Amino acid sequence: MDDTPFNSLKSETSDVVSPDAEAERWREYYELRKQAPPRPTLLDALARFDSDPAPTVSRFALDLGCGDGPDTAELLRRGWSVLAMDAQPEAIRRLRERSDIPAGTELETHVVGFESMTLRPATLINASYSLPFCAKAVFPSLWEQIVTSLVPGGRFCGQLFGDHDEWAGGGRTLHYTQAEAKALLSSLIIEKFEEEERDGTVADGSPKHWHAFHIVARKG
Ligand SMILES: C[S@@+](CC[C@H](N)C(=O)[O-])C[C@H]1O[C@@H](n2cnc3c(N)ncnc32)[C@H](O)[C@@H]1O
Repeated sequence: MDDTPFNSLKSETSDVVSPDAEAERWREYYELRKQAPPRPTLLDALARFDSDPAPTVSRFALDLGCGDGPDTAELLRRGWSVLAMDAQPEAIRRLRERSDIPAGTELETHVVGFESMTLRPATLINASYSLPFCAKAVFPSLWEQIVTSLVPGGRFCGQLFGDHDEWAGGGRTLHYTQAEAKALLSSLIIEKFEEEERDGTVADGSPKHWHAFHIVARKG
């Protein structure tokens, strides 16, 4: 099975999904992905912090759409303080129950949707495979908050979905051309911009054509 995300979160139709059905889909996803490793974009960003000439003293990260917390757990293991947020109570419940988070770490969690998030100044803003699920009308202000909340020298890492992705046009996920994705990053210094397009699978093994941009970008 491919380790890229999602279970039956098929996006071919724009029909409205009830909150209960949405919660059940994400619950299935967390179950399928439990014990998944941290995302390569997060590991890339962390390696860059480690090799910065003047290492950042304050290491505070926001994990947006944290799911059950594979990235948050990695950050905590490396001594970062983390505010992890997700719209699904089940995600936060599972994150809180993880056995791979050392005692005494600084973890704050909020059950909150992108639509209502107020971001704090942060050294790192991580959003692994989550921003594409933000409501279209809300995304511009959320992205503005992400860019303004990064402290100088801070980094954003995560994914945006491309316009060739199988889910594009389905109405449930956000998709960008390569130029649009790069334009969003115009006020940041792009350190990694990897375009991935391939036939793969979702978390439950069913086929999907993927088109994603894997991003690490720094605020100057
Ligand atoms: C594909 S999962 C990724 C989870 C985690 N970041 C990871 O890499 O495993 C996307 C996450 O985004 C969350 N999400 C989806 N829509 C959201 C919204 N409107 N506001 C906040 N979180 C949302 C989901 O609940 C889910 O946990």
